Amino acid sequence: MRTEARQLQLLLLVICLFAITACGQSATTDNSAASFEGGSANEAKAKLVYKQNCVGCHAADLSGRVGPNLQSIGSTLTKAEIYEAISSGREGMPPYDKRLEAEDIDALAAWLAAHTDSKGATE
Ligand code: HEC
Repeated sequence: MRTEARQLQLLLLVICLFAITACGQSATTDNSAASFEGGSANEAKAKLVYKQNCVGCHAADLSGRVGPNLQSIGSTLTKAEIYEAISSGREGMPPYDKRLEAEDIDALAAWLAAHTDSKGATE
């Protein structure tokens, strides 16, 4: 009985240590990714989320592939409309309300709404 309790304690300790190490690592990765992106925190987050979810259809420079060109999307849609498009999806585009946090969609919408001129495409 005593030995079992000890083993359980040891197991819990190992799990705790693992959890702490795992969290520490992911926090470090996030930070380095954000600083690598440069710009404001919001912009950095938006670019990262865009890279992970949208490039396949809208291209890295926003010029579009399956999806339309978004380089000057801010001149035709408001931030709220862009938010809505990302959140609910469009024909040929999945909804992101279940895949992304609201704040990630918000960062994306703000970043895209600032794109009003195709010359400044990726800035
Ligand atoms: C599977 C391909 C696909 C993915 C992935 C995708 N989109 Fe789209 N997106 C489309 C298509 C296709 C349309 C055009 C739909 C239409 O014509 O109504 C579109 C439309 C849009 C629009 C509206 C453009 C307009 O002029 O009305 C926005 C904004 C947008 N996408 C942003 C994003 C963002 C941000 C992501 C990543 C979170 C994303 N999309 C991921 C395919 C995609």
